[in-house]
Amino acid sequence: MIEARSITKFFSVVNEKGLAEGLTAVLNVSLTIPDGKIFSLLGPSGCGKSTFLEILAGLQAPTDGEIRIDGSRVLEPLPSTRKEMEAYKRRYRFISPVANGVFRDHPKHDIAMIFQDYAVFPWMTAIQNVNFALKLHKIPRAQRNERARFFLNRVGLAGVEHKYPSQLSGGMRQRLALARALSVEPKIILMDEPFAAVDALTRERLQDDLLKIWGETGVIIVMVTHDAPEAVYLSDEVVIFSPGPGTIRNRISIDIPRPRRRSDPEIIEIQDRIFAMLQYDLDQESEYSI
Ligand SMILES: Nc1ncnc2c1ncn2[C@@H]1O[C@H](COP(=O)(O)OP(=O)(O)O)[C@@H](O)[C@H]1O
Ligand SMILES: [Mg+2]
Repeated sequence: MIEARSITKFFSVVNEKGLAEGLTAVLNVSLTIPDGKIFSLLGPSGCGKSTFLEILAGLQAPTDGEIRIDGSRVLEPLPSTRKEMEAYKRRYRFISPVANGVFRDHPKHDIAMIFQDYAVFPWMTAIQNVNFALKLHKIPRAQRNERARFFLNRVGLAGVEHKYPSQLSGGMRQRLALARALSVEPKIILMDEPFAAVDALTRERLQDDLLKIWGETGVIIVMVTHDAPEAVYLSDEVVIFSPGPGTIRNRISIDIPRPRRRSDPEIIEIQDRIFAMLQYDLDQESEYSI
């Protein structure tokens, strides 16, 4: 279970006059995501979705609030080298001795993150990409190749393991990113607009592949998207962010059993409702800015 408790993220930015000013990217967001569920975060660009996702992953620290996974608090990814550990301790030296307890028993959260753009390393072949993730997770060298092949196979990439990302189609690259994420058998997969860069048909196939793998593994999936149909088709719950400081505007549970049909009138009806909300927000925003 993931619990986000009153997450706020504040950035200091320099405005066009060269003056420092504050920007609230995420404001007081609380959300509980139960095990085995798919949640989508939906909203216009700039509403804080990526920031919130990175806070869930521990890649950014919130200004206020906390993230707990299965009850233990997420700070940042566990340092994997002595040098990183030193930097980590320096960064947190001002926090209280109580919080410093986390250095001793830092819980390991099994989270894999898939980014939109640089999801795979272009200088590594498909299998090297997966092996690299396995290495980071301290899987013994002797087991890596076999395990990498297993997961490449699972996402339909058998036969292209020695190709470089530039030799793969966009859809295949995203499959590779998925294989790499799955290979470490995470409990949670976080995805930031994972299918935004592929054509519509490939996108639908990838969505179905994702659902199939999710059905087999039961991971928690939290996905950022700006595509309402994608969110409704995939998710147990769609969380809609409002523009401006990112707050939760609406939460829509989708109880339609799977497998779902994209043309199901119930699905279309929910999509339309979401479109109307997003449209309303955009209209409001442009009224303010005139
Ligand atoms: N590191 C940063 N420094 C300053 N402002 C940032 C930073 N990261 C994001 N922002 C700002 O925070 C807001 C939310 O950004 P983001 O989370 O990327 O939105 P989304 O993913 O919904 O498009 C935007 O206004 C963005 O410019
Ligand atoms: Mg984003």
